[in-house]
Amino acid sequence: KNIVILISGRGSNMEAIVQACAAEGWPARIAAVISNRPDAAGLAFAAAHGIATAVVDHKAFGPGDAGRAAFDAELQRVIDGFAPDLVVLAGFMRILTPGFTGHYAGRMLNIHPSLLPAFTGLHTHRRALEMGCRFAGATVHFVTAELDHGAIVAQAVAPVLPGDDEAAVSARVLKLEHRMYPAAVRWFVQDQLRIEGLQVRQLAGEA
Ligand code: GRF
Repeated sequence: KNIVILISGRGSNMEAIVQACAAEGWPARIAAVISNRPDAAGLAFAAAHGIATAVVDHKAFGPGDAGRAAFDAELQRVIDGFAPDLVVLAGFMRILTPGFTGHYAGRMLNIHPSLLPAFTGLHTHRRALEMGCRFAGATVHFVTAELDHGAIVAQAVAPVLPGDDEAAVSARVLKLEHRMYPAAVRWFVQDQLRIEGLQVRQLAGEA
């Protein structure tokens, strides 16, 4: 199966997926890593691993709804040039149009750094700290038109400890993301995931 990964920055989740795909011998290849930011650090890692890279710079498109639609159309054209079976959003910081999410319905995953449905949107760990949450976490979900909604594939939970700041919580959760996201992508490429209404059922895998 062909996997296309979208990033906007550091790309540590993308790295974890690239490494797991190679180390675990998935029935899949990372066909491309695409960024909306030319300076995304993760692009260098992908290129160094012989993976095709592309940039679709959102700043090159006009403002407002028309610009957003034009960006999404170009992004879709570039993605589809790699014939993906699965599109993986890994720290991809753009809100996507319904036309785009609809095109990849059932074949686009995202990771969000909260225990959804709590804390959609930005600054999730800061908001969890402000609310006195005892636990933080991250969620892998299928992408739908509604931001940070869509059927949940996996969640990981980390404790919030006394004295934690946003960076401490983020680092603790990120370690879990690097295990959870590759596992979720592997389930997809091994045909183990079934979307049933609001829920995802995971079928037993070979290994
Ligand atoms: C992660 O915390 C992820 O949950 C969120 O953005 C961050 C991306 O980090 N969506 P990286 O680019 O994968 O290192």
